[in-house]
Amino acid sequence: MMNQTMKKITIIGSGTMGNGIAHLFAQNGFQVNLMDISEDALSRALKTIEGNLDRQVKKEIISQQDKADTLSRIQTHTDLKQAVSQAELVVEAASEHIPIKLKIFQDLDSLCPSGCILASNTSSISITKIAAATKRPKQVIGMHFFNPVPVMKLVEIINGYATSAETTQKITQTAQTLGKVPTVVNDYPGFAANRILMPMLNEAFYTLYEGVAGVSEIDTVMKLGMGHPMGPLQLADFVGLDICLDILKVMHQGLGNPKYAPCPLLINMVEAGHLGIKSGIGFYDYAAGNKASIVAERFRQ
Ligand code: 3HC
Repeated sequence: MMNQTMKKITIIGSGTMGNGIAHLFAQNGFQVNLMDISEDALSRALKTIEGNLDRQVKKEIISQQDKADTLSRIQTHTDLKQAVSQAELVVEAASEHIPIKLKIFQDLDSLCPSGCILASNTSSISITKIAAATKRPKQVIGMHFFNPVPVMKLVEIINGYATSAETTQKITQTAQTLGKVPTVVNDYPGFAANRILMPMLNEAFYTLYEGVAGVSEIDTVMKLGMGHPMGPLQLADFVGLDICLDILKVMHQGLGNPKYAPCPLLINMVEAGHLGIKSGIGFYDYAAGNKASIVAERFRQ
């Protein structure tokens, strides 16, 4: 059922998460303004959304008409003022660089209608800190989606220190309207999902780094022994090793516990530019399309 209170949504950032979020809202009847500073990024995003809708058509999850309707509900923008002038909800999925993020929220605060809720898809930056950059901290909240957005059922909703109950309730309802399962958590480093996921991935990096097991052995253990859809090293490549490192750093610094210190192998790989799928190489080699082969045996100590 369509959300009665909010229909006009602006998504900031058209990368993997931004285009997935735009796809999801548009598919569920919302009018979506997708904003990015780059025209090229926007046209790539529309192609990706179209490709992912085709996947759903092929699997008979949606019809050709649903696909056409979904695409017709997405408008792209490179001008922030235009993109948000009528927004009832903004979901930001742009840079994870703190100064850039804070500037985006300051701009959103000054350009968005006063009743508009400002949500961030951040995986690691404090919602309380983001909210403090605005004059509407009660209306700032975390809305954390998971990749691939159209598929993963969870939305982790993060209450900042000043988020109002009304904002939480509206965002919870919105997530339900999207067919997702909202889970409300509090604003501490890593929130809940990454607080649990990242130490597991980090332990997998250490298991490789200390020579306990190789790449395929580690992934096989977790896939076949624990029923995970992807092994931890494959998942880290999928998330992006730079993102994993950023989140671990935030947790290490914010929680002050050495158990969150990122594995030196992860640091080396990020410094080498081996970021996973997006750079073509990580624990696996993606040079031959999506058919990954293992490269990281040489990282064994
Ligand atoms: N858009 C739409 N549909 C998609 C899609 C996309 N981008 N990607 C995959 N799908 C659909 C497929 O059409 C298929 O549909 P079906 O179930 O109806 O047949 C289904 O998803 C499964 O896809 P595939 O058959 O191509 O591939 P798999 O069965 O191997 O599944 C996967 C792929 C869903 C990615 C699965 O491997 C998985 O669940 N992996 C774990 C993903 C995960 O943990 N994500 C969270 C990462 S953490 C995060 O995002 C938070 C951040 O803060 C770090």
